[in-house]
Amino acid sequence: MRIDLMAGAGLSLAPLRAAPDPTILLFDSGLGGLTVLDAVRRARPDARYVYAADDAAFPYGRLSEAELVARVLAVMEQFIASHRPDLVVIACNTASTLVLPALRQRFTTPFVGVVPPIKPAAATTRSGLITLLATPGTVARSYTRDLIATYAASCAVTLVGSRHLATYAEAEMAGSPIDDATLAAEIAPCFVRAEDGRLTDVVCLSCTHYPLLLPRLRALAPWPVSWIDPAPAIARRVLQLLGPGQRGEAGDGSGVLASFTAGSSLTAPLRDSLTLRGVNEVTVEAMPLRMQ
Ligand code: DGL
Repeated sequence: MRIDLMAGAGLSLAPLRAAPDPTILLFDSGLGGLTVLDAVRRARPDARYVYAADDAAFPYGRLSEAELVARVLAVMEQFIASHRPDLVVIACNTASTLVLPALRQRFTTPFVGVVPPIKPAAATTRSGLITLLATPGTVARSYTRDLIATYAASCAVTLVGSRHLATYAEAEMAGSPIDDATLAAEIAPCFVRAEDGRLTDVVCLSCTHYPLLLPRLRALAPWPVSWIDPAPAIARRVLQLLGPGQRGEAGDGSGVLASFTAGSSLTAPLRDSLTLRGVNEVTVEAMPLRMQ
């Protein structure tokens, strides 16, 4: 059975509410969802934003499926109770490809998820060689395999489960960028040259952390490719659900509240990076990870 993660099972396409200033909560294991926040804020500048980062459990890519479902449900319980959002964006492929059905069953709040952009990748490629770059968790999901079978059956899809790239993106945001050689080695498996000379020409950024590194990934790629970031599609989906709002309005000036479940990596350079992305208040709602 295919579950339409992007569309929100049971939700009509009519806007959920016409009132201005809805509260939108964006959720990720760490800082990756900030790339989605940028796109959503451009679409609904009038909304109030909470950016919720489960940094106590970062990286999600290392958690088993059962651990991840339990963790996201528990954390979401608290964030929804604290912030009463009108809509939640699960700005994390690793969580969205697994947890959305359980979230929708537990909560009445509408959820929008981020899933690997296989469909646009298949429409973009000319060589027929696509790479899906994601966390090991996302690469392993049956949801991901199903997307590939449905939308990219005529392409050769290389799955690259990166163990370190999300951590490198966090380091970049915290002002301690990883060196070029290490970054180049991590993305090297994305670039395939077929025996007939065809080259990979599309790489799906299937972890929201990766666009944080995009300028460096472009510079280090052995040849030019199209990098597909699903964030604009997520913003369009939020607009479909919430309606356009008062376009052009800059909201109530309250900016973005960022809430962390640990906050242990909140260094001064990281706070500066957050400020540059519109975060004007940072808080910690401590939720330590207790693994069985
Ligand atoms: N940003 C997350 C994603 O989109 C995952 C990073 C992690 O926690 O492993 O998959």
